[in-house]
Amino acid sequence: MTAPMELGLAGKAVIVTAASQGMGFACAMRLAQAGCRVAICGRRADALERARAEIAGRAGADVFALPADLTRADQVARFATEATARFGRLDILVVNTGHIPYGGLEDLTEVQWYEAFELILMSAVRLARHAAAVMRAQGGGDMVFITSSSVREPSPHLLLSNVMRAGVAALAKTMARTLAPHNIRVNTVAPGYFDTGRVRRRIDEIVDRKGVSRDAAAREIAGDMPMGRIGSAEEMAELVAFVVSRRAGYMTGATIQIDGGRGHGLF
Ligand SMILES: NC(=O)c1ccc[n+]([C@@H]2O[C@H](COP(=O)([O-])OP(=O)(O)OC[C@H]3O[C@@H](n4cnc5c(N)ncnc54)[C@H](OP(=O)(O)O)[C@@H]3O)[C@@H](O)[C@H]2O)c1
Repeated sequence: MTAPMELGLAGKAVIVTAASQGMGFACAMRLAQAGCRVAICGRRADALERARAEIAGRAGADVFALPADLTRADQVARFATEATARFGRLDILVVNTGHIPYGGLEDLTEVQWYEAFELILMSAVRLARHAAAVMRAQGGGDMVFITSSSVREPSPHLLLSNVMRAGVAALAKTMARTLAPHNIRVNTVAPGYFDTGRVRRRIDEIVDRKGVSRDAAAREIAGDMPMGRIGSAEEMAELVAFVVSRRAGYMTGATIQIDGGRGHGLF
């Protein structure tokens, strides 16, 4: 990749949720490398501490980490409050979450629906409520929500994602209008297939089963995607860093697809 773009983010106070690995981690790392002070959370204390140490070490940044389960209102509130207190402000909120189960209408239980509601939609609502109050009081800020390309093109086997992330996109779009007069921008990024999380596990499984290289397994998953490959977490992080920077200062209420050309829609 070419040299990073200067984003004017030095000294900003940032929250990135679900950031001990994958796209959340990459976003936290990129923002830390841009000079931000970064707060991260995840459920597993050991994985979170490894992530904190790696970001602090590689970026030379001030990194605050607190274990928190995004399905729990009390833990979300504690993390957001302590992170804001630690830095004395909150300039940027990046809302990322964990995975939710695959499945269609007949496959999913009542409990899975409520868990997905808490993890995807209510965590976004609770974090946004906190951030909006802080950012309004301090005179501005930026929020970005990592959703999925399913907000544009629902997938039959991703019903929970289709429904809950559409709610997050609607939340972001609504807030973009109501918070713009307060100098707060709100955007959504919608990833297709990335080499993280359960896509990464599928690659590893193909490597084990077929004895092929990781690249070959990733190309198999990419299938007929126009670019012929899946995305990297760093490519996602580069987009997020641009969107929350003032280089994207006139952009709010946007949903930006990042999917290697996989989507068929015009917009
Ligand atoms: N990978 C893709 O191709 C893709 C495409 C579209 C959308 N997405 C979505 O993007 C998000 C990130 O995906 P990823 O592939 O980067 O995931 P990942 O590599 O599996 O990482 C998920 C991160 O979320 C944390 N996490 C999971 N559940 C949590 C919870 N309840 N509370 C707090 N933290 C939690 C995990 O840490 P702990 O386990 O320690 O909590 C981990 O740090 C997911 O919502 C995923 O569905 C991914």
